[in-house]
Amino acid sequence: MSHPVKAYLIEEVDGAVRAGFTSLASDSLDPGDVEVRIDYASVNYKDALAATGRGKIIRRFPCVGGIDAVGVVERSGSARFGAGDAVVVHGWGFGVAHHGGYAERARVPADWVNRVPAGLTPLDAITIGTAGYTAALAVDLMQLNGCAPARGPVLVNGATGGVAGIAIDMLAQLGFEVVAATSKADQADYLLGLGARRVVDGVAPKGAPNRPLESAQWAAAVDSLGGEPLAALIPRMHKDAVIASIGNAAGIAFSTTVMPFILRGVRLIGVNSDNDVAMREHLWQRLATDLRPRHLAQLRQVADFAELPAVMDSVLAGQHRGRTVIRIGAGRG
Ligand SMILES: NC(=O)c1ccc[n+]([C@@H]2O[C@H](COP(=O)([O-])OP(=O)(O)OC[C@H]3O[C@@H](n4cnc5c(N)ncnc54)[C@H](OP(=O)(O)O)[C@@H]3O)[C@@H](O)[C@H]2O)c1
Repeated sequence: MSHPVKAYLIEEVDGAVRAGFTSLASDSLDPGDVEVRIDYASVNYKDALAATGRGKIIRRFPCVGGIDAVGVVERSGSARFGAGDAVVVHGWGFGVAHHGGYAERARVPADWVNRVPAGLTPLDAITIGTAGYTAALAVDLMQLNGCAPARGPVLVNGATGGVAGIAIDMLAQLGFEVVAATSKADQADYLLGLGARRVVDGVAPKGAPNRPLESAQWAAAVDSLGGEPLAALIPRMHKDAVIASIGNAAGIAFSTTVMPFILRGVRLIGVNSDNDVAMREHLWQRLATDLRPRHLAQLRQVADFAELPAVMDSVLAGQHRGRTVIRIGAGRG
């Protein structure tokens, strides 16, 4: 029997993108072999862009927003999950081409679902969400590319953001000397509390030209910004340094030269969080064990579903910090 599902729906009306609360019939949810009653979703940078039509994130209108969610399996056609399992859903089309997490329930392909691993509560899992999963992927790839604490300091930019905050926590735990770069000088104590050793306002003065090679400062970097900040990082990396390119909060285009790559062996590695089941299982296990973030309480705010539009406004205005969890359903701890 169909029943109403409260949802935050993104639509295109007369060529303009609009988002708002609505009620959907449960039988109009997208198909999928796992049906989840959603307890929590979260707000990622991409979610805020999607709801405003910026960045052309939504690939199918109308679409319930929300690129991640945590809840309980109600029905499963997949042998990997059974009713009552606490699960986290993220990645692929969720919240961009298939109804997402800002709804009381969702039906999704099993490959987009992971069990909340032992060692994490559902609230921990959604605080991690797409942001923390992406930070874990970046750290995993950086380690595969030879990053180790003894090689020197790691720069994490956009430091008050969700991905960056969790990356700082993980890297500090692993023994790296983490330097946080932020535009928000008043957030230094928060960043030092997550494990950063120092806080800077950037790696070079804004607008300063970058010579092909500058004095080498960083053994590794986690870049959430792209654009000019990434162009400033590349010539300032040590020999054999690794930059994990995660995001584009400052822009998609940047200008550089090949010199850091051919004379210093700098590696610019791409990080994309749409992964197969094996990689997802590997990373969620690490997120519950050796990479488990220790400062989730400091990183997290919890807001009610009705507050979602205001949280998105604060993300777009650059006033947001860490991770905001949206309480959708029962909100078990
Ligand atoms: N590759 C993937 O699979 C993947 C997955 C998740 C996220 N992402 C991307 O990663 C980036 C970070 O995501 P997030 O969810 O962590 O975002 P977020 O929480 O909104 O954080 C972004 C941070 O970037 C800085 N920032 C924001 N606007 C800026 C601007 N115009 N110029 C310079 N800095 C700006 C701010 O940090 P400060 O004020 O501290 O500098 C902000 O806190 C986004 O581009 C997102 O789309 C990619």
